[in-house]
Amino acid sequence: MVQDGRFFELRDIRKEYVLRQSLLQRLTKSAPRVAAVDGVSLSIERGAIFGLVGESGCGKSTLAQIIVRLIEPTAGEVVYRGVDVARLKGEEERAFRHAVQMVFQDTGSSLNPRKRIRRVLAEAVKARGVTGAMAEGEIKTLMHQVGLDTQLLQRFPHELSGGQRQRVGIARALAMKPEVLVADEPVSALDVSLQGQIINLLRDLNRELGLTIILISHDLAVVARVCTQIGVMNAGKVVERGSPHQVLLHPVDPYTRMLLASVPRGLAGRNHRSKSGISAIDGGRGAGERLARFGTGKGDQQAALGVDRLKIVTTKID
Ligand SMILES: Nc1ncnc2c1ncn2[C@@H]1O[C@H](COP(=O)(O)OP(=O)(O)O)[C@@H](O)[C@H]1O
Ligand SMILES: [Mg+2]
Repeated sequence: MVQDGRFFELRDIRKEYVLRQSLLQRLTKSAPRVAAVDGVSLSIERGAIFGLVGESGCGKSTLAQIIVRLIEPTAGEVVYRGVDVARLKGEEERAFRHAVQMVFQDTGSSLNPRKRIRRVLAEAVKARGVTGAMAEGEIKTLMHQVGLDTQLLQRFPHELSGGQRQRVGIARALAMKPEVLVADEPVSALDVSLQGQIINLLRDLNRELGLTIILISHDLAVVARVCTQIGVMNAGKVVERGSPHQVLLHPVDPYTRMLLASVPRGLAGRNHRSKSGISAIDGGRGAGERLARFGTGKGDQQAALGVDRLKIVTTKID
C-alpha cells in the first residue's frame, strides 16, 4: 500500500513553448518562449477527487497532458507510486499508460465516427488482452457502470447525445481498469442539465471503484460540487490549494477571491451544504455570503440553475 501523499506527485513541473519566431531569432536561438506551466508542485492523494480550476489558457490542459504522459515537461518530475514516470520503460510504461487514463472534453472528435460503440469498447478491453465472451461480459459491465443501455452498443457516436458520448468516453477509459482518471473539462461541452449527471457519475465511480480523479474545469462551481481537494491555477502556477472548505471560505490568493466573486448565489455544493456550521466558525459576513452561494441549493434542479447562471458569469473570465 502506497502512502497517501506519495501516490501522485508533481515536482516543479515546467512546460515552455517556443512562440512563432523570425529567421533571425531562429538563427540566434533567441526565440521568445512562453511557460504554459510555470513550476507546479502538487501531491494528489489516492482516492481523492482533485479539482484543478482556473480560467482558459492558464495551463490546465498542458498539465493534464503531462500527467498522462501525452507530452513531456521541459523540467520537473511526475512521480507515480514513488517512481519518476519519465524513467518507465517497456512493460512498466505500458502499465502506467493503462493505470492513468484521460477523458476529454470533446467527445465528438475523441471517438472515431466510423466505429460502433461496441467496437470502441471491444478495442479498449482488447488492449488488456481480453477478447471473446469475456470481452462481451466486460463491455456490458462497462455500459452498466456508466449508466448506458446495452442497446446503444450498436450505435455510432453521432447517433448518441453529447451526454451519452461522454459516458462512452468514460467507459472507454474504465476499460483499462485505471487507478487514476484525468478528466479535462469533461462537462464543458454539455448542456447544463447534463453537466450535473456526468459530475455525479464521476463522484459515484470515485466512491464505488476507489478511482482517483483529477477533475479539470474552468468552472469553480463544477469543481466545488464534488472535489475533496482543489488547486487553483493562474498563469501556469498553482496559486492556492486546499480542501473546498479552505478554498471557498478562506481564500488567500487574490485570484481565488476573484473567481469566487464571480460565482452567483444559489449555487449548490453538496459537500458544503452539509457543513452548515462553518459560517459560525468563520464568523465574518463574507463567509456567510460565500456559504450562501455554495450551500443553499435545493436539489439538482437548482444546482443546474446555479451552474447555468455561473456559465453566464464565467464567459467574462473564460
Ligand atoms: N502546443 C502549443 N504550442 C504553443 N503554445 C501552446 C501549446 N499548447 C498550449 N499553449 C499555450 O499554453 C498556454 C496554456 O494552454 P492550455 O494548457 O491549453 O490552457 P487551459 O487548458 O488552461 O485553457 C496557453 O497560452 C496556450 O496558448
Ligand atoms: Mg484546456
